[in-house]
Amino acid sequence: MKQSESDLSTASLHRELGTKLIGQNVLYYPVIPSTMDVAKQAAKEGAAEGTIVIADHQTTGRGRFGRNWWAPPNSSILLSIVLHPRLEQLRHLNMVATLAVAQSIEKVTGLKPVIKWPNDVLIGGKKVGGILVESEVEEERVNSTVIGIGLNVNLDPFSNPEIAETATSLREELGEEVSRLEMLRSLLGAFEELYEALRKGEPIDKLWRRYLGTLGKQITVKCGEQVWQGYAESVDDEGNLLLRCPDGSLLTIVAGEVTLQV
Ligand code: BTN
Repeated sequence: MKQSESDLSTASLHRELGTKLIGQNVLYYPVIPSTMDVAKQAAKEGAAEGTIVIADHQTTGRGRFGRNWWAPPNSSILLSIVLHPRLEQLRHLNMVATLAVAQSIEKVTGLKPVIKWPNDVLIGGKKVGGILVESEVEEERVNSTVIGIGLNVNLDPFSNPEIAETATSLREELGEEVSRLEMLRSLLGAFEELYEALRKGEPIDKLWRRYLGTLGKQITVKCGEQVWQGYAESVDDEGNLLLRCPDGSLLTIVAGEVTLQV
């Protein structure tokens, strides 16, 4: 891989970025605590829709459920995107982000990722990417939303025992290095297309369903102290999971963490 292909700085990213909105304004850092905090602060200070924050390394990267997001320097895509969506678009942003990750992986590497409801992207049953959505909502109005995307591009999952069993990376699956720059450009392009479709009111849930690997399985869903078990029957057009419980009732679940029952 050429040296320039591992450089995510603004100049190299812009050289061949074909988007009109997403990534037009780039805040790039070799190392910061978390791209989420920088993006939220930028949004407060009036950052335009589509502004992105990227880092080569995060010292306190975070995931869902208050977990850490671990990635060695220069190994991953660590990205936050500032948006100013309408309230009714909020529920669909995880679809936009997970689909963009899945489609760009497919396009750049030929690998076949699946989406694990609601916010994970897996290859071969192991997590390769995760999405974190954080919004500032006031009186039914979204001030700003930050979409955090972590994508394991060239990391070695076996170098961290905590994720060795459950995570993978594109390099691990493909057996060769993948250009972070190419992945990032493709990801931003896919994100823009899907976000544009959402803004025009076009349905993206059908496409999302096609990539969802969670359906048709016996699962356990945990959300805080609550635990549900049942058959993952479907998702509604808002992306909520429809779980068929052992008593025959159909439960609509808005958020949670899914594990397969063995
Ligand atoms: C998850 O699966 O739990 C979501 C992980 C989100 C990680 C990304 S990395 C870039 C951005 N900055 C963070 O601190 N977190 C998100």
